[in-house]
Amino acid sequence: MGYLQGDKPITITKLLAMHAEREKITMLTAYDSTMSALLNRCGIEVILIGDSLGNVIQGHSSTTPVTIEQMVYHTECVTRANTHAFLIADLPFASYGDPVQALDSAAALMRAGADMVKLEGGDWQVDIIQYLVERSVPVCAHLGLLPQSVHLLGGYKVQGKSKDAASHMLEQALACQAVGAQMVVLEAIPSSLGEKITAELHIPTIGIGAGPDCSGQVLVLQDMLGISPGKPPKFVKDFMDGHHSIEAAIKSYVREVKSGKFPGLEHGFAG
Ligand code: KIV
Repeated sequence: MGYLQGDKPITITKLLAMHAEREKITMLTAYDSTMSALLNRCGIEVILIGDSLGNVIQGHSSTTPVTIEQMVYHTECVTRANTHAFLIADLPFASYGDPVQALDSAAALMRAGADMVKLEGGDWQVDIIQYLVERSVPVCAHLGLLPQSVHLLGGYKVQGKSKDAASHMLEQALACQAVGAQMVVLEAIPSSLGEKITAELHIPTIGIGAGPDCSGQVLVLQDMLGISPGKPPKFVKDFMDGHHSIEAAIKSYVREVKSGKFPGLEHGFAG
């Protein structure tokens, strides 16, 4: 928590320093001002304005209906109450089809308050990542299960299970890093692959169903509060269990990520 003293803003430099010192990075999603203020009070270092808002706010069954205008609106809402957390906003489906469109979309998110943008995909996105980084847009890549590709993948499935798929994913992560991505989210992959990619990269990895060895962890806020409808994915822990308030649950998430207690073995996938 040392980095939060005096409410100094969390910068990418601080996040990279935490990674170098092996301090786990805590990230949660938020889409509105109330939760943004609460996450700041609880000591979350990174807030992700995720396009998961398509599911949890808008009630869609996937993230593909989310538009750049909607992402801008929610980024503005989160930004207004943000005191010091680092803000990452998702580039939504079909908003980064070519470098020029990606820059337009990323600029809109940064004008709304984002410190970094996240986009889904690996080696096929390197031209776009490089174009954005060269124009001063910080980029987080997202590998593994790619929710924007759910219609192509035929469902939400664990990725990188075969030896070939695992080594291809490592290559993708290295390719994204080589063109300037400063962070990588790894979603729903075997814990052993999460460990391997984290060991091979020099930038932080943020896991969601990628095992305990990632540099940090992220969950969808509504999932970790146990209020999302339906059966939660295996990698989710209900932090309201045993806590009397949302604030206590989020503080417990921060403590458990920092100490390495979360995620446990039961939240991970085998290779
Ligand atoms: O949109 C989102 O919430 C995300 C997380 C699942 C990492 O991308």
